[in-house]
Amino acid sequence: PHKKVEKICCIGAGYVGGPTCAVIAAKNPHIQVTIVDLNADRIAAWNSDKLPIYEPGLDEVVRSCRGRNLFFSTDVDKAIIEADLIFVSVNTPTKTKGQGAGYAADLGYVESATRHIAKVAQGDKIVVEKSTVPCRTAQSMRFILEANARPGIHFDILSNPEFLAEGTAIADLTNPDRVLIGSLNTPAGRSAAASLADVYAGWVDRQQIITMNLWSSELSKLAANALLAQRISSINALSAICEATGADVDEVSYACGLDQRIGKRFLKASVGFGGSCFQKDILNLVYLSESLHLPEVAAYWRQVVEMNEYQKKRFLNRIISCLFNTLTGKKIAILGFAFKKDTGDTRESAAITLCKYLRQERANVSIYDPEVEERQIWMDLAEPGVQDERKELEKQFTIAPSALEACKGADAVVVCTEWDEFRNSKLDYKKVYAEMNKPAFIFDGRLILDQKELEEIGFHVEMIGRPRSNFQTPKDWE
Ligand code: UDX
Ligand code: UDX
Ligand code: ADP
Repeated sequence: PHKKVEKICCIGAGYVGGPTCAVIAAKNPHIQVTIVDLNADRIAAWNSDKLPIYEPGLDEVVRSCRGRNLFFSTDVDKAIIEADLIFVSVNTPTKTKGQGAGYAADLGYVESATRHIAKVAQGDKIVVEKSTVPCRTAQSMRFILEANARPGIHFDILSNPEFLAEGTAIADLTNPDRVLIGSLNTPAGRSAAASLADVYAGWVDRQQIITMNLWSSELSKLAANALLAQRISSINALSAICEATGADVDEVSYACGLDQRIGKRFLKASVGFGGSCFQKDILNLVYLSESLHLPEVAAYWRQVVEMNEYQKKRFLNRIISCLFNTLTGKKIAILGFAFKKDTGDTRESAAITLCKYLRQERANVSIYDPEVEERQIWMDLAEPGVQDERKELEKQFTIAPSALEACKGADAVVVCTEWDEFRNSKLDYKKVYAEMNKPAFIFDGRLILDQKELEEIGFHVEMIGRPRSNFQTPKDWE
């Protein structure tokens, strides 16, 4: 007989906590869900008509239950006191300073949220680690909770990693491949896991709700992201071979993907993966491997990230070499700034790296993205710690209100994000061509364009994973 959860609190109203708990509330009308955050602006946005994150379908879910059994608040204490179950869904950025800088996760936010729970809780709680954290974090959370709990209060710790991808969060949450719950293998631990399982059983098939020990659960999250990122680095490594040999990476990917042991999803070559998770989680795994004295394992995973950096650099080099080895003063249109389509999120976006390279090459860059806020783009372009950089940046960068506007007068168009509106069928490439400097180049970092059609218009088209067009050596010169 395990406890029925009646009130849930989620600490952290970000990309993970917000959508996840909104879906939990929508699917469990009998459970009261309160999402809290220290950031008052963010909470105000969750309570407004313009949600703080862009995610297809999220508006409808929030509207269906906000004010009914879903609440957004800055009153962290009250929500903790009332809840039976608390999700900790705060940010865990990579450390920028001190030991493990550049690799290890900064658990400061997790720790402070945990201490806060211990301080204000007046009854027993199930505390669920939802943020992606290094293996063994649950152990530390338990230690902190037990050391600071009021007498007689009992905490159970669960690990419940989230596997949603941005842009498809609502679909992923509504119809997950699996829900993973890690717990201590004690009667209390198993009972807490059963209570959380009931929450998900509100809409997920019991067979897809799997339980295991805490450490397996924590490591599974890092492992899943590492394996996914590894597939992209593998196909991107092959794309370099394709470009040099005349093979076509889409064909190679198709042929390999038909093998059911390999599978066709997540094998699309690109200018490089981005997002808040892949790089961070792999670097976490690298750090973990090193601290466990497993240098070969660390080197294996580190190479996945290095290949990703190499892919971005290689793409830049191709742009430079096609544009007659100089970008100085040339106009480059960047189509797409988000790390993937259907999100306004730019964390670790390949477009940022590319823009920084273009800045060093002294190009003029015009950026267009349908969802990313201008303010965010300027923040991403700025170098950390440099004061009053905006004026300097504005000498080289502009932000355009449309794709066509970004391409006006450009020497090259570079597709960085696979937004549907950049496809041949959606964007009038004849118009784009007419407005560009000649020769007009187009670089497809996402393999979404129809090369033949664009060549017929007059473009020089360069695709990732396809050989370079040999426009510079016309037949009669050979
Ligand atoms: C392989 C390919 O599967 C096949 O498509 C290709 O045509 C030839 O190479 P094979 O070497 O005969 O076939 O056997 P396979 O089943 O792929 O196993 C290769 C090795 O990997 C074996 O030693 C196997 O034990 C090992 N293996 C396989 C694992 O250690 N773990 C796995 O999950 C799968
Ligand atoms: C990822 C995981 O998919 C998700 O399960 C986890 O919970 C969080 O991290 P997310 O980062 O939101 O999700 O997006 P994802 O779809 O995984 O894409 C990550 C990056 O890889 C994007 O930049 C995307 O464009 C790129 N990518 C993806 C490719 O370049 N090729 C592919 O085939 C797939
Ligand atoms: P993720 O992508 O993991 O969801 P985000 O950065 O989008 O990460 O969201 C994390 C949120 O957690 C932020 O809005 C941040 O303000 C909030 N947060 C961090 N620490 C605390 C805390 N101790 N109490 C409440 N909210 C917190």
